[in-house]
Amino acid sequence: MFDRQKKGDRALLLLPHSRGQGDAGRRADEFTELAQSAGAEVLGAVAARVEDPHPRYYIGSGKADEVAEAARMLAADVVLVDHLLTPVQERNLEKLVGVRVVDRAGLILDIFAQRARSHEGKLEVELAQLKHLATRLVRGWSHLDTQRGGAIGNRGPGETQLETDRRLLGERVKMLGKRLQKVQTQRGQQRRARLRNTVPRVALVGYTNAGKSTLFNALTTGEVYAADQLFATLDPTVRKLDGLACGAAVLSDTVGFIRDLPHDLVAAFRGTLAEASDADLLLHIRDAADEDGEELHRIVDGVLEEIEAGEVPQLQVMNKVDLADVSPRIDRDGEGRPQRVWVSAATGAGIDLLRQALGELLGGERVQSPLQLPLSAGRLHARLKAAGAIAGETVDEHGWALRIDAPRSVIALLSGGDAAEARLLRDLLGQAV
Ligand code: GTP
Repeated sequence: MFDRQKKGDRALLLLPHSRGQGDAGRRADEFTELAQSAGAEVLGAVAARVEDPHPRYYIGSGKADEVAEAARMLAADVVLVDHLLTPVQERNLEKLVGVRVVDRAGLILDIFAQRARSHEGKLEVELAQLKHLATRLVRGWSHLDTQRGGAIGNRGPGETQLETDRRLLGERVKMLGKRLQKVQTQRGQQRRARLRNTVPRVALVGYTNAGKSTLFNALTTGEVYAADQLFATLDPTVRKLDGLACGAAVLSDTVGFIRDLPHDLVAAFRGTLAEASDADLLLHIRDAADEDGEELHRIVDGVLEEIEAGEVPQLQVMNKVDLADVSPRIDRDGEGRPQRVWVSAATGAGIDLLRQALGELLGGERVQSPLQLPLSAGRLHARLKAAGAIAGETVDEHGWALRIDAPRSVIALLSGGDAAEARLLRDLLGQAV
C-alpha cells in the first residue's frame, strides 16, 4: 500500500561528538558503515563538537551553516546525523540545509526495514516507522514535500500520502498493532509446541558485522526447518542445525546489534529480538580480529539484558581467526564445559569444533538404555523417534524393543503424554547410565 523508492542516496554525514564519548574515529567509521548498509553513497562528513545541545539545530548555528554549505557543494540529497534529534531540530535543519535530514533513529529504522525478514519483524518495522513518522507529521512537512528523492528515511510509508489522510495513518497503526499481537500470540504457541517437540533452539547474536550471516550459512544446510511449518513459512531465518551429537536443533539468525540502539527501538523490536530470549542457548559471535571486541561484547550483553535474554546460557564464538592469526580451538571453563570456540566462518576452520561444543552443551549427560514399549505406546514411540532418541529398534507382536541414545535433557523434555507414558519416561530416566 505504500510506495518504496529505490534510488540511492548521496549522503553527507554529520557527526556530533562530546567529551568522554570514546573513540570518535571508530564511531565515525561505524556510522559510515551504517549509512552504507542503508544504501547511501557517502560523499563526506562534517564533525561537530557538541557540549551543550542547541535547541534549534542540536548543533550550533555556525556549524549548521557549515553543514548547509557542504551539502550544497557536494550536491547531497540527504544529511545523516549520528545522534537523535527532536522532530523540531530535524525540521529546522532541513529548512536550513534544503535537503532531507535523517537522525540515527531514522537511519536504524531504515536498516531494520531492509533487514526484517520475519513476518513479525516486518510488522514491527512498519509500526515503528509509522509512529516515528507520526511525531514528525503533526508539525507539518510542507517545506520538503513530494520532490524529496532518495531512499533513506523515505523507505516505508510515504509522507505526502499520509499527510493527505491522517486518519489512514491512525487506522493503519491500529490494524498493524492488532496483527502484530496475533503473530506474537502465535509465536508463543509455537514456542510451546517446540518445547513439546523437544528441539533445542539456538540463536545467533552479535555486534553488527561480526559475521552472523556467514556463520549461519556455514552451520546450516540452507534448508528451512520443516517440522515447524508455521514458523518456517513466517521466518526464513530459522534453519535446521544438523550433525550435532545431541540430535537436531534449530538455529535462528537475529538482527545485528549496534551501539546506542535507541531505547524505544529496542522496545519496538522486542518481538524480533525475542528470538534471543526464547533460545535455549545463545551463540554470541565476536570478531576476534577487532581490537574493540571487549567493548562491543558489553554492548551486546547490554541489549540482551534489556530484552530479558541476559540469563540465557551463552557460547562465545570468536570469529575471523583467519585475520587474527589464531588456530581454531575450544576454551573450556573450570568444569570442562565449552565456553568459547575460535573459528573462521568464512574459511570453515573450526566449524567442526563449534558443532562439537554445541553438541556437548545441548546434549549434556546421555541416556543410553534399552526400552521395551507396548504397541499401545505408539504415540510415545513416534515422539522418541521425532526427537532422534532411538538408536536401534526391533518390533514384534508384543511391541518395540528400542535402544535409546539421547541427551538426558531431550528425554526429560518429552512431557505431555498420558500417565502410562510419563511412567515409562520416568523409568527410563531412572535407568540412565
Ligand atoms: P550484520 O548483518 O551487519 O549484522 O552483519 P553480520 O554479523 O551478519 O556479518 P556478515 O556475516 O555479513 O559478515 C560481515 C563481514 O565479515 C563480511 O564481509 C564477511 O565476508 C566477513 N566475514 C565473516 N566471517 C569472516 C571470517 O571468518 N573471516 C573473514 N576474514 N571475514 C569474515
